[in-house]
Amino acid sequence: MKVVICPTAERATALTARVIEQALRQKPDIALGLATGRTMEAVYAHLVQAHQNSGLDFAACRTFNLDEYVGIAPDSAHSYRTYMNAHLFSRVNVALEATHVPDGAATDLDARCVAYEQAIRASGGVGLQLLGLGENGHIGFNEPFSAFTSRTRVVTLDPATRRQNVGMFDGDLEQVPYHAVTMGVGTILDAHRNVMVVTGAAKASMLARVIEGAMSACISATALQMHADCLVIVDEAAAGALSCRPYLEHLMQHDPELKALLS
Ligand code: GLP
Repeated sequence: MKVVICPTAERATALTARVIEQALRQKPDIALGLATGRTMEAVYAHLVQAHQNSGLDFAACRTFNLDEYVGIAPDSAHSYRTYMNAHLFSRVNVALEATHVPDGAATDLDARCVAYEQAIRASGGVGLQLLGLGENGHIGFNEPFSAFTSRTRVVTLDPATRRQNVGMFDGDLEQVPYHAVTMGVGTILDAHRNVMVVTGAAKASMLARVIEGAMSACISATALQMHADCLVIVDEAAAGALSCRPYLEHLMQHDPELKALLS
């Protein structure tokens, strides 16, 4: 894991977008793994800006989203498909047929999950996977006790997650589904590169456990400790509970990859 601490959330999301931009410019047909949530809105806004202002080209790339709510149709205002169309897909030149978001309303969900894994493999695997962090430590919707070897599947959401995401459902908890489809922790670990962005004081104690704590299926994001190429971009507020801060700062100054990223 390599960690970059940015002064503000704005800088953290801008840097995350720049990392994605670099990957896309290096490999225009990359398979991008994408995430949803409030944190990502700013990341996607920066990517849209790069498309509009400096011609960032999405024409050849493929995308695979991490997750979707079960029982929510793709064209529902509450679906992650709608979120992705609104924040990114309709605002850049990606081919819509090259974008993949699990269909939470499908009747044959288990078969669709297997097919999702096959589609990822057929695309050559995810080149760069973007990740947020849930307040309970989930990545995607891999709730506590998800096996590190888990694949795309249907999961039951943690009550904490349902409460955390109530904003997408007009603040009405009853509308938040109890189940979701998510790439597994194993699927995420298969990505060539993982980039996790975490902002805000509400996630500070969880971030410290993810970076400095012991690996445990209770906190899915700790699995990233065994990924060979994982970059974690955070703001000062999220970094507030880290105890290894002096060494992280030393690394930001002297690690060649981080130096290049921050120059
Ligand atoms: C949802 C998504 C996660 C995301 C999380 C963070 O739970 N399934 O993939 O990481 O939201 O959301 P936010 O950025 O709104 O805190």
